[in-house]
Amino acid sequence: MSDTLTNDSTAKIILDSTEIELPVIEGSENEKGIDVSRLRSQTGYITVDEGFVNTGSTSSAITYLDGEKGILRYRGYPIEDLAQRCDFVEVCYLLIHGELPTEQELDGFRASIRRHTMLHEDMRDFYKGFPRDAHPMAILSSVVGALSTFYQDSLNPSDPEQVEISIHRLLAKLPTIAAYSYKKSSGQPLVYPDNDLKYCENFLRMMFAVPSEPYHIDPDFVTALNMLLIVHADHEQNCSTSTVRMVGSANANLFASISAGICALWGPLHGGANEACVNMLNKIIADDGNVEKYVAMAKDKTNNFRLMGFGHRVYKNFDPRATIIKGMCDRLLEKMQIDDPLFDVAKRLEEVALNDDYFVSRKLYPNVDFYSGVIYRAIGIPVQMFTVLFAIGRLPGWIAHWAEMHQSPSKKICRPRQIYTGECVREFVPLENRS
Ligand code: CMC
Repeated sequence: MSDTLTNDSTAKIILDSTEIELPVIEGSENEKGIDVSRLRSQTGYITVDEGFVNTGSTSSAITYLDGEKGILRYRGYPIEDLAQRCDFVEVCYLLIHGELPTEQELDGFRASIRRHTMLHEDMRDFYKGFPRDAHPMAILSSVVGALSTFYQDSLNPSDPEQVEISIHRLLAKLPTIAAYSYKKSSGQPLVYPDNDLKYCENFLRMMFAVPSEPYHIDPDFVTALNMLLIVHADHEQNCSTSTVRMVGSANANLFASISAGICALWGPLHGGANEACVNMLNKIIADDGNVEKYVAMAKDKTNNFRLMGFGHRVYKNFDPRATIIKGMCDRLLEKMQIDDPLFDVAKRLEEVALNDDYFVSRKLYPNVDFYSGVIYRAIGIPVQMFTVLFAIGRLPGWIAHWAEMHQSPSKKICRPRQIYTGECVREFVPLENRS
């Protein structure tokens, strides 16, 4: 747990006519929390909060977000400034080290990442074993987990040198692992990284180049990709980051912890929403573009259908990431003069939902995944790779949280409690007496 500001006030609760005082802690942006960590030892009670809707699992100095005001800052810097003025590697440094790098620091960081972009040749053989139609997120989590079999020299979370090398290896290799998963699905030869290129250019080349033709990297695609990776780079205690922290809290190595985070991100309610969103838009197109029908389905409480790419647990007015990339999305589509029915349906859906009382009253706005899928599609990224791109973007955030947790003197294994609702003690029934 990173430093919290002290607060003299306390919260009081009355349990079985006894008044209990609980300390109040306060963050640097004046967010307040009631510290219940000693409640059980003092009273026998626990707190219950399904889905952690109101539970802070830690204090953290990495990312600040205010869902009501639509604020997102990494290490104090507004996301709008970082998205406009940095490249992704610079943001990785900021998230992991806490400060923007000097020119010299950035050069050193880039050089180290460049040095580690290749995969071990034996690792390339894994790709032969995966089925052609394997989901790239499954490949990504498997291969990242497997890094711990190849780099046994950097698995100790308590050794700063080992941690640093494993961080650089992960940042360097994830785009290569990701691009290979796409090449596998398309049957094209794997393209080695080119360390003369920058991070995003290298990734685009590994994805789209083939040995038989020259490959031209579109600078607008590089700009769009940089921006997308930056806006995805951290989002405080979301599901996948909490997973990384949870797994890491048991002192599992960094590769294993990140592999678990990738699995959590894959879910359609989290990072998988970008893929689910484009699949939904295609379904609407196949259904004569009947946007109203899908809006009605989403509002129907007897139907489980939800509009993918709408709503957010934290943002209740707008998603600042969505605002940034919507501008990029509009510019890219205009430049490319793309005539794609998917974009028309997306625009119509956005318009209908933004003006419908069901969505307005529940504060359900298009989230980052609504627009990111549209941009990825314009760049030529296949739909199954959308969540993989999210994972590449989120990697520095996962790493920063994992490292922050390990550096904290108050680190504990994460182990929630429960209220048991099953059978009370029963007499064992031997097999022959069971009916
Ligand atoms: N379509 C229709 N209704 C919705 C939607 C939606 N996308 N999202 C929420 N609602 C309704 C929900 O039915 C509930 O209605 P009521 O109050 O009548 O019961 C109300 O809005 C509140 O929903 P909730 O499920 O309590 O909200 P939550 O904070 O638990 O869920 C969410 C947040 C993102 C999981 C949810 O909005 C959702 O399922 N959205 C679609 C999936 C999606 O786009 N996920 C990407 C999130 S952004 C990327 C990331 O950071 O992971």
